[in-house]
Amino acid sequence: REPALRTFAPQHLRVGAAVDVKALNTHEAYRKVLAREFSAVTAESAMKWGQLEPRRGQYDWASSDRLVEFAVANGQSVYGHTLVWHTDLPAWLPRDGSREELRELLREHITTVVSRYRGKVWAWDVVNEVLADDGSMRDTVWLRELGPDYVADAFRWAHAADPQAVLFINDYGAEGRGAKADALYRLVGRLRAAGVPVHGVGFQAHLRADTMPPGMEQNLGRFAKAGLRLAVTELDVRVRLPVTEKKLEQQAGVYRRVLQMCLDQPACVSFTVWGFTDAFSWIPGYHRGYGAACLYDSGFAAKPAYTALRTLL
Ligand code: XIL
Repeated sequence: REPALRTFAPQHLRVGAAVDVKALNTHEAYRKVLAREFSAVTAESAMKWGQLEPRRGQYDWASSDRLVEFAVANGQSVYGHTLVWHTDLPAWLPRDGSREELRELLREHITTVVSRYRGKVWAWDVVNEVLADDGSMRDTVWLRELGPDYVADAFRWAHAADPQAVLFINDYGAEGRGAKADALYRLVGRLRAAGVPVHGVGFQAHLRADTMPPGMEQNLGRFAKAGLRLAVTELDVRVRLPVTEKKLEQQAGVYRRVLQMCLDQPACVSFTVWGFTDAFSWIPGYHRGYGAACLYDSGFAAKPAYTALRTLL
């Protein structure tokens, strides 16, 4: 194998990228870099409920299966994202139906998706973004209709469908010290004490080049100490436009520090970037005035951030 991120990473650490299946199908350079550099993939959208079941009772597996086949062909692991979220839900999902109906739909959805990829998806983001920034439970259709126990239920259903899968709770803004990180720590503690099969915590890490989350090292450390696996699930480091050499160096420093923290924690089993090329990054579309968040530029040339990771590995 050519020297690449995946060849230099320690055995226990998967180095992944979120994949845009449309780009995968249409761009040769995209496939080439993805296969060469990464030992794992996450579907950027293809495994979200709204994409999988656009019409009630009719699953469309084409994109997610395509990604899983690509991964198998290239010796990559698949990280599943995501079973329960408050957005990207199918339009047909009854928002004000009966509680029992909605609970049954969620149970069936989780069971269907996890069963299909049993033995192929090594880990799942079972619940995504269940906390609000102040640490309270996020006000979503799931909380309103099912009550807070939907979180425990989701983990139990996922575990029943694939007892081998490593099950994560995933969120953003809990990387550093703060109310949200504290709430996440307490929530996971309560779930584990109740025997709920939560195995790890995913830190999205949508970061900015000019700041680091405060106390991130200690924060990751306490979750690891509690016996949880850690994953950096969606790392990207956005730059305020226009891009300059200096900002790209700063960005490289953030990528490097996050990887270093992951390498320092044996519990950190997955390091995934949310897109690897600026050509297909979600950042410009969602964060006005920012861009250039990835390891490769839009022409698939490696940026200083790529070199920083390679050097560290
Ligand atoms: C984003 C994708 O990158 C976009 O392409 C999509 O349209 C919306 O979702 N947190 C998550 C991811 O958990 O699923 C989100 O992905 C980014 C924020």
